[in-house]
Amino acid sequence: MAMEPDSGSALRRSLLFTPGLRTDRFAKALKGGADMVCLDLEDGVAPDFKDEARDKAIPALFDATLGAAARAMRINPIKTHTGMRDLLALCDFGSAPPALLLPKIESPEEVRWVAEILDEAGYDRTRLMVIIETTRALEAALDIASASPRNDTLLFGAADLSAELGSSLDWGALHYARGRAVHAASHAGLDLIDVPSLDIKDEEGLRSEARLAQRMGFTGKAAIHPVQVAPINEVFSPDAETVEFARRVIEAYEQSAAGVALLDGKVVEMPVVRAMRRALAIAEKIAAGAP
Ligand code: GLV
Ligand code: MG
Repeated sequence: MAMEPDSGSALRRSLLFTPGLRTDRFAKALKGGADMVCLDLEDGVAPDFKDEARDKAIPALFDATLGAAARAMRINPIKTHTGMRDLLALCDFGSAPPALLLPKIESPEEVRWVAEILDEAGYDRTRLMVIIETTRALEAALDIASASPRNDTLLFGAADLSAELGSSLDWGALHYARGRAVHAASHAGLDLIDVPSLDIKDEEGLRSEARLAQRMGFTGKAAIHPVQVAPINEVFSPDAETVEFARRVIEAYEQSAAGVALLDGKVVEMPVVRAMRRALAIAEKIAAGAP
């Protein structure tokens, strides 16, 4: 059976990317309402600036004066020289990063290498967020998702994946691929974050994509601009009506002796209760002010 999502107390509805060189934007982003902010050393930094970005971004990642949102860093692909340097620089820095995003992963072994290097550095608390954005990763997504107990999230990297597949970026073209990511993340009990929408001005388009993703089983969506954060948080937060209904369903079920209850004329069985518990867990994290 698939595992129940267990991502601790962290909320991951929105994950805002900021380019590694722009630590000023990182500082602002940390105060902008995103559940997580990710300093990007990969595609948000031009090849000639990788070293400069790494030198600036790593100290910023640990600067406690900057703001309270959860933090993450996207390093370069671990099979590249630059990616390996990113990881080793983090190990040499001497503080455990809260979370690392791993792009272009192709196999569960790659995730395990990273986990082992973090073990060696004594960074026990560092969580891993793996981007599914290669055709190999799509095929191996189930094993990648379960590759390490450090994994807490998959990200669906539609931009790179569509470039590999030769598909367009529109919803229908990637439905199968998103389905595989949902399958893998839910099986391993991980959160699943969708690709950012690239049209910053199209709030309605963003909401509609976020709703489609939420209905498929995604738990959040990435953002590339602070204006995208509030609509994303809203779509991935259960509304008051849903929370009230979830409470009534769970109460009716718990009061029934036979494992089946009737609520408003509809049968309530365990699968409905599981879905409702999931919605309530998110609502409770929001109420508790996570992260
Ligand atoms: C994200 O990294 C993407 O490729 O969409
Ligand atoms: Mg990518």
